[in-house]
This record gives sequence, structure tokens and C-alpha cells, in this order.
Amino acid sequence: MKLLSLSSPPPFSQALLHVPLFLFSSILLSSLLLVFLILLWRRHPKDKRLPPGSMGWPYIGETLKLYTENPNYFFSNRQKRYGEIFKTNILGCPCVMISSPEAAKTVLVSQAHLFKPTYPPSKENLIGPEAIFFHQGAYHSKLKKLVQTSFLPLAIKGSVSEIEQIVLKMLPTWKNNTINTLQEMKRYAFDVAMISAFGDKMDIEMDGIKKLYLCLEKGYNSMPLNFPLTPYRKAIKARKLLNETLRRIIERRRDSKNYGGGLLGVLLGGKELSDSQIADNIIGVIFAAHDTTASVLTWTLKYLSDNVNLLEAVTKEQEGIKMKMVGAGLTWDDTRRMPLTSRVIQETLRRASILSFTFREAVEDVEFEGYIIPKGWKVLPLFRTIHHCADFFPQPDKFDPSRFEVPPRPNTYMPFGNGTHSCPGSELAKLEILILLHHLTLSYRWQVTGENDGIQYGPFPVPKRGLPVKVTKRSKTVPT
Ligand code: HEM
Ligand SMILES: *[C@@H]1O[C@H](CO)[C@@H](O)[C@H](O)[C@H]1NC(C)=O
Ligand SMILES: *[C@@H]1O[C@H](CO)[C@@H](O)[C@H](O)[C@H]1NC(C)=O
Ligand SMILES: *[C@@H]1O[C@H](CO)[C@@H](O)[C@H](O)[C@H]1NC(C)=O
Repeated sequence: MKLLSLSSPPPFSQALLHVPLFLFSSILLSSLLLVFLILLWRRHPKDKRLPPGSMGWPYIGETLKLYTENPNYFFSNRQKRYGEIFKTNILGCPCVMISSPEAAKTVLVSQAHLFKPTYPPSKENLIGPEAIFFHQGAYHSKLKKLVQTSFLPLAIKGSVSEIEQIVLKMLPTWKNNTINTLQEMKRYAFDVAMISAFGDKMDIEMDGIKKLYLCLEKGYNSMPLNFPLTPYRKAIKARKLLNETLRRIIERRRDSKNYGGGLLGVLLGGKELSDSQIADNIIGVIFAAHDTTASVLTWTLKYLSDNVNLLEAVTKEQEGIKMKMVGAGLTWDDTRRMPLTSRVIQETLRRASILSFTFREAVEDVEFEGYIIPKGWKVLPLFRTIHHCADFFPQPDKFDPSRFEVPPRPNTYMPFGNGTHSCPGSELAKLEILILLHHLTLSYRWQVTGENDGIQYGPFPVPKRGLPVKVTKRSKTVPT
């Protein structure tokens, strides 16, 4: 009522009397207006359409969990509350997490140009800023073509016997020993990565490269503290030395007019690449191939030892291959006739989902399923969450390779990503697992020593303590 009376001005004296009231009313009015404006501003369409979720900082423990513990807890809590797209805040970075196949497809495939890959600078500098992962557009597609050429089935067919030789040399050293599965698999995956990077003719520099590379990797997986004696500082030094070693190898290959084998040969043949572009990508590919494959191999052994019937079925399939073999060793075609073993690998990749998610960054304000993702925000497609969604994979915690007898629906199964940045090494990774499983299941058995459960991060999730196992010769009498 008081507010309304202001609109019809009262006589002067009365007005004077009302000065305090007038003042009071106008203060009230302007505060109400301000509150209204604030509300209006907060309901600005752009703001209103941010995805749901809390931007409060997840408490430190929770953020650490995302990186170090089972990230499932972090995601499933929020997914239950907010749905398949929600915003959150990781160590001060606003980000949007997505866990529907359609949204993953938009970010990774159909609108990939709006979402660039993003890595912390400390990591980018260790790998080398010109490595394929960090780029978009013309430079990325030129590199991708070269890398893909080098890892297409046609190109890796020729490596079957070299990979087999590595396996045949490694397995006997396990016999009657307790091995740390992860450590052994890292050795194996590294040797295969070196062959794919440099070809089968090994350079005298290889031992040096291995030492430096392992130092680099250790620094990559540690805190980026650039002080004397920290793993990170040592890694920076190792990276400089690797630069020089690679430059020597590149120079030698250029001089001899023979570019040689492996990815290096392909990159040298690609002409327009500079030495440091080549070096960054060689290191990048070894990096992408090493711990990933080793972690998946470790899980494969764990799941097989937990599922004895499956182990016997895989062994039977491998015996079938061996019986039909004509030559002395495995061929590419043999590896194409291992459907059950291949499904075990597929299910391992799903169940373990060692790459829980990947990072992108919106390059502009992006309209996305009715929401706005502001420029600069991170976008995380949650592979693991999708792989563990009961709608697509019933009883998701069960290890059941037979679910892959029917191909999964598009964008529900992306262990190697999808779209522009999808993994060019997927066929090689599967090939090296198949070859190892062939010989391991035919000739050996392994028993987990100590407790059999728990997860550690090194840096990908792997069974506790790297899965120590006692390896013995397989007795041909099948246990019942
Ligand atoms: C089982 C083992 C492996 C897994 C699970 C895996 C997974 C992935 C995933 C999910 C991506 C996409 C990342 C993203 O979109 O942000 C990727 C990219 C990549 N992977 Fe793999 N990978 C494996 C083995 C390998 C191997 C053996 C190589 C080497 C030949 C390799 C080389 C690469 C490269 C170069 C990229 C970057 C591609 C690009 O940015 O265009 N990976 N990998
Ligand atoms: C391994 O152990 C088995 C049984 O324990 C034994 O018969 C065999 O001689 C051992 N082999 C080696 C190479 O030590
Ligand atoms: C490697 O050498 C190139 C020069 O060719 C240089 O630009 C680059 O910064 C070097 N990288 C490292 C990590 O030292
Ligand atoms: C990648 O995306 C395309 C387009 O949506 C789809 O056809 C394909 O099946 C997807 N790949 C995977 C592995 O889901």
C-alpha cells in the first residue's frame, strides 16, 4: 500500500511529513529492484542452461579419489543426483562430465572440432609439445595418417614373428618363479613398442633409450615439482638427452638414404616433418603404447586365473590353433582365428576400463543437449561409467566374454576412444595380447600369491601389488 501511494503525489506538507517514509520506501524499492535484477541476472539464459551439478569444490580427498582410487565412486554419486551430464569442479577447473553414448559421440566424433584435447603443460612438455595427442586440425590429421599407416593390420602383420620371439624368450624366465605380473608386462609392452617405433633392426642406442625413457615415465607419473633431485626434474633432463639420442638416430637414417622400419621410417618418409616433430611423436607413441597395454595384460591374467573354466576354454581354443599350424610359428591368420580369446580381451577392456575417461576442452561456448558449455570448460567423456551401465552391459561387474557374441551398440564400448583422436594402436595392442596368451595358456599356469583383491594405480588401475603370481609348467591333465 505504501508503495502504491507514492505514485499519486500527496500535498507538500503531507509530503514533508512523509520524508522519512519516502526515503525508507525508496531504499526498500531500490533494494527490491536490486534483488530482482540479481535474480534476473542469475536467471540469464546462458547461466540457466549450464548443466546441473554442484560447482563447490569436491573436497580434496574426493578429487584425489578421482585420480588415484576407484573413480567409479566419484561418478556414480553425481550421476545418480544429476543425470548423465553434470558440472563439477576438479582442482579449480570447471568441467562437465558426460556418460551417455549420444553425448560421448557428440564430443568425440560429430562435434570433435569444438572440443580440443587438453593436458597439463607439465605433462605436455615431457612428451613433447608436437606429439599427436595435443593437436587438432591439419597438423593432427597429417600425423594421424602417418601413424595409422604404421599400425594398420597390413603394417603389423609382419611383426607377428618378432613379437612371438619376445614372448618365447620371456616366458621361460618366469617358470618356477614368482613374478610381478605388471612389471613383466611392462617389459614386454616396452619391447613391442620399441619394435613398432624403430623397426626390427635394433640400433646400438636402444639400451640408452630404454633407461632414459623409464626415467621420463617416472617423472610423468609424479608430482610436477621442478626442484633438484625430484623425479620430475630428472625426467626433464632425461627428455633432453632423449632428444639428442633420437636426433643422432634420425640423422643416421637420413644420411644413409634408408629411412628404415617402424614408425620412425614412416615419419621420415613423411618428408615435411622436422626432427623435433618426429622425436616428440616417437616418444609419444611409445608412451601411449607402454603402460596401457601392460595394465590390460595384467588384468587379463587376473580375470583368467579367477575364471578357471574360461582359462581352460581359451587353452582349448589355442590348442586348436596349434594343431592346425603348418609352419613353426604363429601367423597373422592364426591370430584371426581366436574368437573366444578375442572376446576375453574385449571383456577385459570393458571390465577394467583402464582409461576411465578422457579430457577435452570447449574451444568456444558450445550448445550441448539443451545446455551451454562455456568456452574453456573441460569436458570428460566417462568411458568407464558407460562401460559399466547395466542398460548396455547387464550385470556389469560380472566378467562374461560371451556378452561380446553380439556386437555392442555404437558408442557404448569405447576402450580405444572414438572419432578423430581414437587409438591408432588398438590392433597392435590386441595382437600382442593374443600372442602372449597363446603361449602362456598352452605351456604354463599361474597362481596368484597373497591376497587376490584390491586395486592400485600405477598409473592405470591394476591389481594390488602388480599381481604377483607363481608360474609353473602346465600339466597336460586338465584339472577338474
Ligand atoms: C590396450 C592398450 C591401449 C588402450 C586401452 C588405448 C586407449 C587409447 C584411447 C582411449 C585413446 C584416445 C584418447 C582420447 O580420445 O583422448 C588412445 C589414443 C592413442 N593411442 Fe592408444 N591405447 C592402447 C594402446 C596403444 C598402443 C599399443 C599404441 C601404439 C601404437 C597407442 C597409441 C595411441 C596414440 C598415438 C593415441 C593418440 C591418437 C590421437 O590423438 O589422434 N595406443 N589410446
Ligand atoms: C620346477 O619345479 C618342478 C616341481 O616343483 C620341478 O620338477 C622342476 O625341475 C623345476 N624346474 C626348474 C627349471 O627349476
Ligand atoms: C629438442 O630439440 C629441439 C630443437 O631441434 C628443441 O626445439 C626442443 O625444445 C628440444 N626439446 C627438449 C625437451 O629439449
Ligand atoms: C564411433 O562413432 C560412430 C558414429 O557415431 C559409430 O558408428 C561407431 O560405432 C562408434 N564406434 C564405437 C567403437 O563405438
